[in-house]
Amino acid sequence: MEILIRDIPEEGAQVAAKLFKKILSTRPQPVIGLATGGTPLRLYRELIRMHQSGELSFKDCTSFNLDEYVGLPPEDERSYHHYMRSNLFDQVDIDPSRIHLPDGCAGDLRQACRDYEEKIKEFGGIDLQVLGIGANGHIGFNEPTGSLASRTWVKILSEQTIKDNAIYFDDPEEVPRHVVTMGIATVMETRHCLLLANGAKKADAVRRMIEGPVSASCPASILQMHKRVTIVLDEEAAYLLTFKDHYKWVEGNKLDWQKYD
Ligand code: PGA
Repeated sequence: MEILIRDIPEEGAQVAAKLFKKILSTRPQPVIGLATGGTPLRLYRELIRMHQSGELSFKDCTSFNLDEYVGLPPEDERSYHHYMRSNLFDQVDIDPSRIHLPDGCAGDLRQACRDYEEKIKEFGGIDLQVLGIGANGHIGFNEPTGSLASRTWVKILSEQTIKDNAIYFDDPEEVPRHVVTMGIATVMETRHCLLLANGAKKADAVRRMIEGPVSASCPASILQMHKRVTIVLDEEAAYLLTFKDHYKWVEGNKLDWQKYD
């Protein structure tokens, strides 16, 4: 795992955006996996800025999002379809026909999940997958103790995640209990994962992900087995890491071609 620690989240978003740009520039038709939630917002703002200044184009990109709530239609402002339009897609030059998100309102959800997996394969797999991490160690909406071999499927949110996400709803009772999410095996097949985490609230999950045993009780810990993962943390999210100084040492000794900034 490549661990990059920055003083503040803004600096993390900048290095993450540079990595994003590096991957986009090395592929003629990049396939990107995107995440929602509070964490990637700074990264998306930086990508929009790069796009506006002519440094970055999404016109040849295809995108797949990690997850969506069951029962929220794309026009619902709490849906992840809406989040992606307002926080990224409407402000860059991505071709709308190449945007994919799980359909939480499909008549046959199980078939929609299988079709989503097929679509990812059809485009040759995901080059770069953006991830956040839940305070309970989830990635996507793959909650603790779920299968580490899972595929895109309908999942039930944990009570903690419902509480954490209630800030986006008027009433916690309105948070859907069901979601469609890429599975852990789907994420493990992506060619590069870029996971961002900020704040002390994530520090324990971050420690378990990087330095704990690989275990379904912290789904993100499976990323230890992924061939290419970059984890960008702010100091607060990194504060429980035993080998923090080592990660900084490694970054300080990178060769030029291994650096993003
Ligand atoms: P957050 O969520 O970015 O809103 O903290 C991350 C996640 O649950 O994966």
